Amino acid sequence: MPFNIKGRNFLTLHDFSPKEIEYLLELSADLKKLKYAGVKPGRLAGKNIALIFEKPSTRTRCAFVVAAVDEGAHPEYLGKGDIQLGKKESVKDTARVLGRMFDGIQFRGFKHETVETLGQYAGVPVWNGLTDKYHPTQILADFLTIQEHKGHLKDIKFAYVGDGRNNMANSLLIGAAKLGMDFRIVSPKELFPEKSLVDSVQAYADVSNAKVSVTDSVDAGVKGVDVIYTDVWVSMGEEEMFEQRINQLKAYQVNMEMLKKADKDVLFLHCLPAFHNLETTVGEEVYAKYGLDAMEVTEEVFESKHSVVFDEAENRVHTIKAVMVATLGDQ
Ligand code: CP
Ligand code: NVA
Repeated sequence: MPFNIKGRNFLTLHDFSPKEIEYLLELSADLKKLKYAGVKPGRLAGKNIALIFEKPSTRTRCAFVVAAVDEGAHPEYLGKGDIQLGKKESVKDTARVLGRMFDGIQFRGFKHETVETLGQYAGVPVWNGLTDKYHPTQILADFLTIQEHKGHLKDIKFAYVGDGRNNMANSLLIGAAKLGMDFRIVSPKELFPEKSLVDSVQAYADVSNAKVSVTDSVDAGVKGVDVIYTDVWVSMGEEEMFEQRINQLKAYQVNMEMLKKADKDVLFLHCLPAFHNLETTVGEEVYAKYGLDAMEVTEEVFESKHSVVFDEAENRVHTIKAVMVATLGDQ
């Protein structure tokens, strides 16, 4: 059965075929409908799920918890400092211990190698809830949101604007190439994605007829696009980079002037959290030091009719549920 992904890890979209990704999106949409109808089939009943977090999280943590409970599983949050992971016990040993107790393990943290080691040794499905390199569950939510608003994914013109070499840019590049989009990374040259990644996704694009390009020109990159996506300029773990990134990326801020270059019905997406006003302590600090009242996206765009960021955030639950159900549950 081509879409039987039971028992598989979910570490990066590199490991999934276009059909498997489409299947996960269809399952997400079905599970969303069931939830709206108040139906909870308990596909994860009796399962125990470990949620390991080295970095903070609002959406990913809450989506895993709600999705697990919706389907009858017990989620256990293991935060930074709660377990010995890599400090007094190797990742490999921790994987083998947790694998004897839990039916599935989510990991969010720094090194991608950590989630790979967990996946190699746990003996149960391991899901990547974000590493420095990839954020694959986020891509499913992004694509489900675009599908809901535009009706299709193939040939969607999609510009990712900002830090072109972070976990979001990497993962979107892979997903968009696999699903046949016209995908552009728009960023300064110093923040272009690794050439090896761009080369590897070209092989996917050849099969799906996707177009993948990388440009430092905002005008060329966002012209006529259906979707503009951005992410924070400084990812978790890079907090000393603010000054450099502000200088590199201020010309890449998503604002109304940029949206005017896109299709008139362009969607704005952002994985969140976003710096779009002064209502955060970091936002206030940046304003005091650099005089910016927003970073990667202006308040005007964030609050505009183009913005579907809260649909996207909600879709984290339905898509994460699909990943857990498909790899672990009784479908
Ligand atoms: N988008 C996302 O992963 O959000 P959190 O960091 O809040 O989980
Ligand atoms: N690139 C961001 C994504 C947050 C969801 C980070 O890693 O901090």
